[in-house]
This record gives sequence, structure tokens and C-alpha cells, in this order.
Amino acid sequence: MDRTSREAAAQFGRQAAHYTTSRAHGSGDSLGVMVALAHLTGTERVLDVATGTGFNAFAFAAGARSVVALDLTAAMLAEARRLAAERSVANVTFVQALADALPFAARAFDVTTCRIAPHHFPSVPAFLAEMVRVTRPGGRVILGDTSSPEEAALAAWHNRVEALRDPSHVRNYTAPEWRAFAEAAGLTVTALDTSCRSHLAFGDWVSRSGTDPARVAALRQVFAAPPPGAAAAFQLQGEGEALTFAWPITIVAAVRP
Ligand SMILES: C[S@@+](CC[C@H](N)C(=O)[O-])C[C@H]1O[C@@H](n2cnc3c(N)ncnc32)[C@H](O)[C@@H]1O
Repeated sequence: MDRTSREAAAQFGRQAAHYTTSRAHGSGDSLGVMVALAHLTGTERVLDVATGTGFNAFAFAAGARSVVALDLTAAMLAEARRLAAERSVANVTFVQALADALPFAARAFDVTTCRIAPHHFPSVPAFLAEMVRVTRPGGRVILGDTSSPEEAALAAWHNRVEALRDPSHVRNYTAPEWRAFAEAAGLTVTALDTSCRSHLAFGDWVSRSGTDPARVAALRQVFAAPPPGAAAAFQLQGEGEALTFAWPITIVAAVRP
């Protein structure tokens, strides 16, 4: 396993239980938009990559025949299994594996999806090559991730903040970068949605990631002096314990030719 993935496994292994109660992950509006873009009919075999505690998998499972929920981190999968039982979700199975080495046959799925996770992956092209391989021709690939504005200074600030909070962060990509990734993977993009946001509260956000006190102090300083345009771009509101903000989300829906 590469160093980036080892860091992600360690990070999410420590913090799994906090994700189960995360409102940002469990009830974000991106869940509904992603499921709608999949045009499910009830017959689909779906793969959800980097499922975490399973919120995206459960949303797709409600409209599909079956979902395979895959994640690198055993503790996240354990939480996802527990939640599935609690919610009586019977059509989801769980697999531990890496996003860029999917243990499935070519064309095994009608729909493949991944939500709020590719910013942790060592290589988005390697991940997308695997998504394309395991999606049947005519099948859909539905991706959603936290995303940076196109302005370089805002993107740099956003990525600095994310990496300070969670060292397993690699990069939030812009909407045009997401379109380019999908097209370079050979996908036909059918929708690029930037209407959703991940709404976050500072205290909950740093406790969910287990960020140490020195990094939390550094983050407070970085948030106290945002670059021009950041307040509007990230909906920064309040201060100290009352600080809230909203990361943009880019959703790409595509068809595998
Ligand atoms: C923020 S959580 C995912 C949230 C979830 N998809 C949802 O919609 O609620 C990020 C997940 O990515 C997983 N992850 C990070 N890097 C990975 C990789 N290279 N392969 C597979 N899973 C990975 C982590 O273990 C973690 O569970």
C-alpha cells in the first residue's frame, strides 16, 4: 500500500465512530443529487467506493437491486455494517480494498459511485481507470467530492486548511478539473453539478478528524485571516467556537461508452 493510503487508513481507523454521527456526511444534499443522476430503476448492481460509514451506499441501495460498499479502512466498514443492521438495509455487502485496485471483474457493475473521498486518493486517474474498468458499457459513473474554487489563491487556502486539519488530505479539485479527469478516463460527461455544499461547524469538524491541539490552534489563525473572496466562496460565518463554513461540492455524472 502507498504512503497516502496508509495515512488515510490510519486517520479513518482512529476516527470511524465520529463519522457515523456526522451530519455533513449523513444528510448532505449531495446524496439526493447523486442518486437522482444515476436514474436507478431498481435492477442495478451498484459499487460505492470509499463508502466510509456507508451513507452513499445506503442512499443508492434504496433504489437499486444491490450495492457493494468498498473501503480501505476496516473500522469504517465495521461502522457501516453496524449502521446497515440498525437501518435494516439488506441489499448492501461490504469489501475492504483500495480505490485504485478494485477486486472485481471487468464490467461487473451497472453503476459505480464515490462521494466525498477522492480528495484522499493518491491518484484520481488510477482510481477512475478502475471505475471505468468495472462499469459495464452504457453504465453510469457518479462522482461527488469537496471541490475548490478556480481562483488559485482560494484553492491554495482551501487545500492548506484541509491538509492542516487532516494530513491524509491530498487535494480538492476544481469543477473543470473534475470534468477533465472524467473525460481523460474515457467517460462521456452528462452532468456537472456545483449546486451542493458540505456544511461544517469548526468544533465538530476538527473533533471528527481528531486534529491535535497545535493544528487546531494553527487552523484558528488561518481562518482568522482568510484571503480576499474566501468569506463568500466558503460561506465563512461567526468566530471561534461559533465558526461555520461550507465547502463547495462538485458532482460529475458520466456514462461509460
Ligand atoms: C469522508 S469518508 C467517505 C464518506 C462516504 N463516502 C460518504 O458518502 O459518507 C472517506 C473514506 O475514504 C476512504 N479512503 C481513503 N483513501 C482510500 C483509498 N485509497 N481506497 C479506498 N478507500 C479510501 C477512507 O477509509 C474513508 O472511509
